[in-house]
Formats: sequence, C-alpha cells, structure tokens
Amino acid sequence: MFEEKEILPRLKEIFAGDYSGHDYFHTMRVYKTALAIAQSENCDKNVVALAALLHDVDDYKLFKTENYANARAILKDLGINDQITQQVIAAIDSVSFSKNGSKVPATIEGKIVQDADRLDAIGAMGIGRCFAFSGSFGRIMYDPENDQTPTAINHFYEKLLLLKDRLNTQKARQIAARRDAFMRQFLEEFYAEWNGER
Ligand code: ADP
Ligand code: NI
Repeated sequence: MFEEKEILPRLKEIFAGDYSGHDYFHTMRVYKTALAIAQSENCDKNVVALAALLHDVDDYKLFKTENYANARAILKDLGINDQITQQVIAAIDSVSFSKNGSKVPATIEGKIVQDADRLDAIGAMGIGRCFAFSGSFGRIMYDPENDQTPTAINHFYEKLLLLKDRLNTQKARQIAARRDAFMRQFLEEFYAEWNGER
C-alpha cells in the first residue's frame, strides 16, 4: 500500500501545463473510476490504484521518457517492490487507445484502468476534453462544408462514439451507457442549435 500524499504532489508537478486533456485532474478521475470498477472485480486493488495514478506519466505524446522512467522513479520512491512494479508497468503498458488500438490488456488490472481511462473520454467529461483538445491543437469545432476537416465534432465519430463497445468490464459498460446516451443527445442538440432550429 502507499500514501496518497506521497504521490499526488508528484503527479501535479508532472502534468502542470498540459492543455491536451491529460492534466492532473484527468488522472484523479481515472483513479476514482478505476477504484469504483475494482470493487466489482476480483483484482489487486493496490496495482489498480498505482496503475491508474501512473497511467499517463510516460505518455509518449507528452513525455519523451523511455521504459516508463517516470512511473518507475515514483514507484521506487514509494518503496514498491519489484513484483508489484512489474505488474503496474504491465498494466500501464496495455492501457493507451492510440498506442494499442483495440488490443485487450492481458490482466484484469490493465483492463480496469483501460476502462476507467476510456470512460473519461466519453460523457460530459469526454465532450469537455474533446473541445479542450481541439482548441489546444488550433482546430475548429465543426465544419459542415467538409467532413474531412479535423474538428472536435469529427472526433466523436472517429473515437468517442465507439468507446462504449470497447470496454472490458460489466461495471464500466453500465457507466458508459449513460455517458454515451448523453453524448448522442449533445450532438443532436449541437446540430439543432447550429442550424437555428432550437
Ligand atoms: P490516450 O490517453 O488513450 O492516448 P488520447 O491522447 O488520444 O488518449 O486522448 C486524450 C483526450 O483527448 C481524450 O479525451 C480524447 O478524446 C481527446 N482527443 C484525442 N484526439 C483528439 C482529436 N483528434 N480531437 C479531439 N479530441 C481528441
Ligand atoms: Ni489517460
């Protein structure tokens, strides 16, 4: 086990200045959601907690670390043993959507953290992050004249609306049903307002 206060300040420091949807609070939401899912699964909750907290600290889009150097350094400072470290790193390695596509994590801990990460990309959180990400990349919200323009709305069809069918656990599927319905309702409202119908 570990003390939250020994790890949370490190995470705050690592994610300071990120505007692409991988800020400290994303990690905190994934942590909470992963622990909630873990309640319904037969798993090592300590590994789930650590993997959730560390799942983005070596994201190749943000950091140029090799071999999970940030995660390993933090685990070492927390006094986590080699066996748990290996389990945590294996879980983190299997999580990323963009890196692993539809590959399913081998362990239940990886499955849970991947589900929690994916849940944060849908629903109200997903909508907010999608628009924040788009803005940070200088993209517009929507282009009704060209469906090939990279926009926030396009990302719903590329990824966000597909995520509910790519979850590993029953509990995550339950949470996703409401979030997915909310996104679909948002899109309907968005087009109606865009067209001056509401
Ligand atoms: P992961 O952490 O699984 O690699 P990403 O880095 O692809 O995920 O995504 C991080 C957040 O940014 C998610 O909420 C995702 O939906 C959003 N995002 C990623 N790519 C785009 C994009 N092209 N347009 C809008 N939002 C995006
Ligand atoms: Ni993440």
